[in-house]
Amino acid sequence: MAGLSQQVRRAVKRRAGIVHDVRRLVDGTGDDVPGLFVDVYGEVARIELHDVRWRASIRDIVTGLGPAVPEGLVLLERKKRGQADVDIVRGHVPRGVVVTESGVRLLVRPREADAAGAGVFADLREGRAFLRARARGGPHLNLFAHAGASGAAAFVGGATRVDHVDMSKKCAGWAATNLALNGAFPRAHRFIVDDALKVLRRAEKRGPVYQTICCDPPTTALRPSGQRMVARDVMHTLARQCLAALLPGGAMSLSCNDRSLDAETLMEAVRSAADEVGRAVKTLAPLRLGPDFTATGAAANTRGALVQLARR
Ligand SMILES: C[S@@+](CC[C@H](N)C(=O)[O-])C[C@H]1O[C@@H](n2cnc3c(N)ncnc32)[C@H](O)[C@@H]1O
Repeated sequence: MAGLSQQVRRAVKRRAGIVHDVRRLVDGTGDDVPGLFVDVYGEVARIELHDVRWRASIRDIVTGLGPAVPEGLVLLERKKRGQADVDIVRGHVPRGVVVTESGVRLLVRPREADAAGAGVFADLREGRAFLRARARGGPHLNLFAHAGASGAAAFVGGATRVDHVDMSKKCAGWAATNLALNGAFPRAHRFIVDDALKVLRRAEKRGPVYQTICCDPPTTALRPSGQRMVARDVMHTLARQCLAALLPGGAMSLSCNDRSLDAETLMEAVRSAADEVGRAVKTLAPLRLGPDFTATGAAANTRGALVQLARR
């Protein structure tokens, strides 16, 4: 299908000026190829198929990517129940690749098959920068933390401690590695393998102790108890509990991968939650996706809300 390789070539060309180590190269509907995504992680690129129709066209996709993208190319095809098939389609793809984002070093695992991801999400780049710039002087709480990218960014920004919370055990070791890559002594930080909803309920009761919080639940997931969490049903509660746990002058990134939830809905959840817990919001803004994300439509160019509390 010559048309497909041209579409992919066009997608690569329109991003020629974007130089981030972790960046999106092909963005599904944003490049008129729904269900086809390509991300670059430093020295490798990863093709993700969320639609079986692309399976027969891998050669065209690779042709379209051409020599301008890293030689190491891995293909991941999503299956049911969060698993995926992974194949190397070109060059050498190591199990681990260290990338750098504004000086923060992060371990990416491009061959990781589970749905939670390769370790760093390009669409949360702005959120990491926001938290890093505000993390100095207090602890950082990273909920649904995955590989701990936001915790590492907060540590580089001067967070005194990172509390990493993810129910997946493998994420604890991964996050410790990411902190160590940035000069931290992992034992000075906390790696909590538990239900983030439970941990946050306790944090709300304890009151304001965190300088920064990153709260980024998946669209839906089974909790350790076996109950299903649907993010859109809990975002307001999460906003309230996070605000209760934030210090005056603290900052939070509240996001969700459910694209049917736009930034305005999340910002409204923050406004009403702030009223409930008596917190004064100084600034509230959408968490924007970078120029590498080209999809259009209601929630397409935003991913969440960035909150800065007033100092009182
Ligand atoms: C999409 S990732 C979040 C990305 C991450 N916030 C980042 O900045 O890179 C979702 C993560 O949430 C975790 N997770 C899902 N449900 C959870 C729960 N109830 N408690 C704790 N972790 C959970 C998964 O294990 C997974 O690592």
